[in-house]
Amino acid sequence: MELLKDKVAIITGASRGIGKSIAITFAKHGANIAFTDLKQDENFTALEKELNSMGVKAKGYASNAANFQNSQDTVDQIIKDFGRVDALINNAGITQDNLLMRMTEDQWDAVINVNLKSIFNMTKAVQKIMLKQKSGSIVNMSSVVGVGGNAGQSNYSASKAGIIGFTKSIAKELGSRNIRCNAIAPGFIVTEMTAKLPQDVVEGWYQKIPLKRGGSPEEVANTALYLASDLSSYVSGQTINVCGAMQT
Ligand code: NAI
Repeated sequence: MELLKDKVAIITGASRGIGKSIAITFAKHGANIAFTDLKQDENFTALEKELNSMGVKAKGYASNAANFQNSQDTVDQIIKDFGRVDALINNAGITQDNLLMRMTEDQWDAVINVNLKSIFNMTKAVQKIMLKQKSGSIVNMSSVVGVGGNAGQSNYSASKAGIIGFTKSIAKELGSRNIRCNAIAPGFIVTEMTAKLPQDVVEGWYQKIPLKRGGSPEEVANTALYLASDLSSYVSGQTINVCGAMQT
């Protein structure tokens, strides 16, 4: 079954990790894919090639989601290239963890700009076309630490909690135009972002997770697929935790 046949999805920060998995999962379900990442490196070109070999239209855009004008210009170009936007997956994100005592202003600003401002930038840029179409699904990548907080991640947790507030507000603001907006709060997902952590820290996390393992990018991508598709046509303004019961 192709849940996204002929739909157009924008996925930010998709060269690797969860974003890449979302792009491939969506393409398997027939979506045409416009993805972004900071630069056109090996991962970027490999993904563009892989998606195009799957029989859908796919194009990568080097774009900084934290930059307002860059986001607007990128979405304008995507609309020229693809004609419409059915789903926006705001996935790009970074961590710069530190205890508050040691956290610099730059670390705070970088994480808020990349994780939270990017969502404002991209959502604002797609709003016009979605309003014109009278349809659209926006999915924002939050985190369980945005729901529950985490010591040493006050900048990241604040950005991810902000995403949930933004998601609820946009769901209420644009619902009457058939535009839905939801958030996903992944728990511990095994990607390059989490590969930076020492093995004993990883084991410590696994012990705290009722399912006793990290999640895979595909398990997050399947939730994004549900939220982007018509299967979730009456679901809006919600945050779905994908975390093996770590956050209940
Ligand atoms: P990752 O670090 O493997 O991939 C993130 C991608 O975003 C990279 O390709 C990076 O180049 C790109 N990116 C960074 N800044 C960007 C910008 N300003 N504009 C465009 N692209 C940018 O990360 P991962 O693990 O795949 O995470 C994806 C999302 O899921 C992030 O928002 C992250 O906060 C969130 N998340 C991840 C969890 C995990 O355990 N891996 C848990 C909870 C949330």
